[in-house]
Amino acid sequence: MPHSFTRRHFAKLAGSLPLVPAVASAQATVITPDSRCFPPDFVWGTATSAYQIEGSVTAEGRGPSIWDRYAHLPGKIHGNDHGDHASDHFARYKEDVALMKALGVTAYRFSIAWPRVFPDGNGEPNPKGMDFYNRLVDELLANGVAPYATLYHWDLPQSLQDRVGGWQSRDTAQAFGAYAGYVAQKISDRVKHIFTINESATFIDFGYGSGPVEMAPGLKLPQAELNQVRHNVLLGHGLAVQAIRASGHADTKVGPAENIVACVPAIATPQNIRAAEIATREMNGGYLTAMLEGRYTDAFLAYAGRNAPKFTADDMKIISSPLDFVGINVYMPQHYVVASEDPNGFSLLPFPRSFPHMESDWLRMGPEAMYWAPRLLARNWDVKAIYITENGTSGADKMSADGRVIDLDRIMYLRNYLTQLQRATAEGVPVKGYFLWSLMDNFEWADGYAKRFGLYHLDFDSQRRTPKLSAEFYRQTIAANRPM
Ligand code: BG6
Repeated sequence: MPHSFTRRHFAKLAGSLPLVPAVASAQATVITPDSRCFPPDFVWGTATSAYQIEGSVTAEGRGPSIWDRYAHLPGKIHGNDHGDHASDHFARYKEDVALMKALGVTAYRFSIAWPRVFPDGNGEPNPKGMDFYNRLVDELLANGVAPYATLYHWDLPQSLQDRVGGWQSRDTAQAFGAYAGYVAQKISDRVKHIFTINESATFIDFGYGSGPVEMAPGLKLPQAELNQVRHNVLLGHGLAVQAIRASGHADTKVGPAENIVACVPAIATPQNIRAAEIATREMNGGYLTAMLEGRYTDAFLAYAGRNAPKFTADDMKIISSPLDFVGINVYMPQHYVVASEDPNGFSLLPFPRSFPHMESDWLRMGPEAMYWAPRLLARNWDVKAIYITENGTSGADKMSADGRVIDLDRIMYLRNYLTQLQRATAEGVPVKGYFLWSLMDNFEWADGYAKRFGLYHLDFDSQRRTPKLSAEFYRQTIAANRPM
């Protein structure tokens, strides 16, 4: 026995023994495996992004991105890490598709590096850049994995940042629309699902505002300018939707991959559920609500006051171009909500210091977010198709002497979040698929390589990939179509 039991342990164990007589438990509701299953056509996938895994940052005509520049500034990234080599996926994409196949996933969400396709952001395309994604898509399809492409996962061409101030300018929104149309024209014969922008809220607040973490391009703009960046990004999303419709195959489906502000009723009374619906609409006022309603809410505009973004009615039409689905990244509950007498109709409760979190401090362990976020999204805006575009956790993964990574914390996290997601699909919330973040350990932005989110462990020196125990958990879950 590795540890001796203390009296405290014993008391805990004794307290957890079943108190109900056996006969009572025999009469309890029987949960059959089927009642815990996801719908039969549920899409199981993993997710990654270009800068975080590809490496080969100057290969085949790729231009520099704001992350190349930023990550090389001393002191910006944990351990002064950068993505020059990352998970070397550019060279090893075939091996990585084999890893997906071993999991049994039916879909893969990857992102296209804009500076590979347009090294300067606009102007002349670089055909070799697109060739890489053509090779990847073909390899995925040959292995029975459906490609889901994201157009923007934060690696803005540096040239646009230098020439026009990046997302501070509407020119970047226009350039993004043109890039989206070009990509759709090239790949939508085989790629049927395209996500426009990943987590606007994160890269804007952290890259252009003063979010708790700093990201590229590392600006801290005053509120009015920050709101204008938000608006320009929304406009870029809308222009991309329109360009994909205009240049892509008719059966191409398009939507965002947004970091929904997940509002959970603290206690699920009808009043608190209603309050969480209102909170979901207001707390997503700068992004999802604007996209889905074509307007900024009154509360958003009142709060912004004279710092509100400048926009036209035509902009809002573009921003709310009809979508085929809404992708949401759900990692944690952002707010617990209760009903309130004040004019908002809701109030947000403070988190106690002891609220549990995973290896990353920000990553709260609140599985019910995975039930409420899609439920309230579907309810508020009558959304008919939802994808969970990211969910997963960092872990204090250690490889043992015999080469195993026993990541029980990740398995616990995933099982609980997936159980809540299944609860949503069983109630008819139209979630069509789930993409686990992430296929493999990668460059985790400000954390560099210090935080690991992968199902596959990476030795970043040898680039050796090793499945963690969670890879087996996910394989079994996919095979059974229910959390295992
Ligand atoms: C998501 C991003 O917000 O969180 C991913 O879309 C990212 O790109 C993941 O890797 C984990 O975040 P972080 O900041 O811990 O790397």
